[in-house]
Amino acid sequence: MAVSIAVTSGKGGVGKTNTAVNLAISLRKLGKRVVLFDADFGMANAHIMLGSNPKTTTGDYLKGTISIVDTLTDTPTGLKFIAGGSGLTELLNLDNQARYKMLSGISSLEDDIDYLIVDSPAGASDSALFFVNAVDLALIVLVAEPTSFLDAYALVKAAHLENGVTDFAVMVNMADNAKTAETNFNKFRDITMRFLDIKLHYVGMVPQSPVIRRSIVQRKPISISQPKSPLAKAYETLALKMMKTSHSHHDGVKFFNGAQK
Ligand SMILES: Nc1ncnc2c1ncn2[C@@H]1O[C@H](COP(=O)(O)OP(=O)(O)OP(=O)(O)O)[C@@H](O)[C@H]1O
Ligand SMILES: [Mg+2]
Repeated sequence: MAVSIAVTSGKGGVGKTNTAVNLAISLRKLGKRVVLFDADFGMANAHIMLGSNPKTTTGDYLKGTISIVDTLTDTPTGLKFIAGGSGLTELLNLDNQARYKMLSGISSLEDDIDYLIVDSPAGASDSALFFVNAVDLALIVLVAEPTSFLDAYALVKAAHLENGVTDFAVMVNMADNAKTAETNFNKFRDITMRFLDIKLHYVGMVPQSPVIRRSIVQRKPISISQPKSPLAKAYETLALKMMKTSHSHHDGVKFFNGAQK
């Protein structure tokens, strides 16, 4: 049964795309059939981190020139990838109709997917919220800054109050160490649960590391180029944790049916 996961944050620049790429590769290494979908239309950059040069993008599918199957780019690990339409101004303000078209196209691939990883745009915009609502589980990327807490809270609140999303996975990125990461998660959970009746599940941390920045410059994801490194292990642990975390139990149109857990 296919499971959909959106990597999101509220705040920009906290490491969503890098997390989505390495999470997708880690799930693939665990033997899953994975599709990474770059939903950051207009600012798409997952293909850059992945070191992939896609021939087709969501833009082609939305224009009706190719089928959804033809949007899938193969990569050497077996991970499949749907590239966003970088620089296409018509996609910057992707309307609801186009979002639904992407959703129904991808849902037709359900039988060939174990995990769909959606790299979401920053903010709590309609587009970011649309994808949080359309997945079984949203993974919130938090960093230890008040702005990250505030923006993540705004996103979680909107998803819960507007669409009844019940459960979120939360990771801490760019952490100093495991202990402070968990302390930061606990702070965020305590504030959030004071006001909202939701469940936040801690799924791990990734340390602040210059190696990650370098891997992005070199267009070689750490989970591929240094598979035995502690950083790659951190993404593998994250993948294993995400596989076990309870899904949200909200209504609404989702990528896949029947993945409730
Ligand atoms: N654990 C980390 N340690 C050090 N640098 C990191 C880490 N994670 C991400 N970065 C750096 O943070 C920057 C932003 O990462 P990324 O593009 O993945 O964020 P994003 O949340 O997707 O941004 P946007 O909101 O613009 O889509 C990158 O330049 C990357 O090098
Ligand atoms: Mg991004």
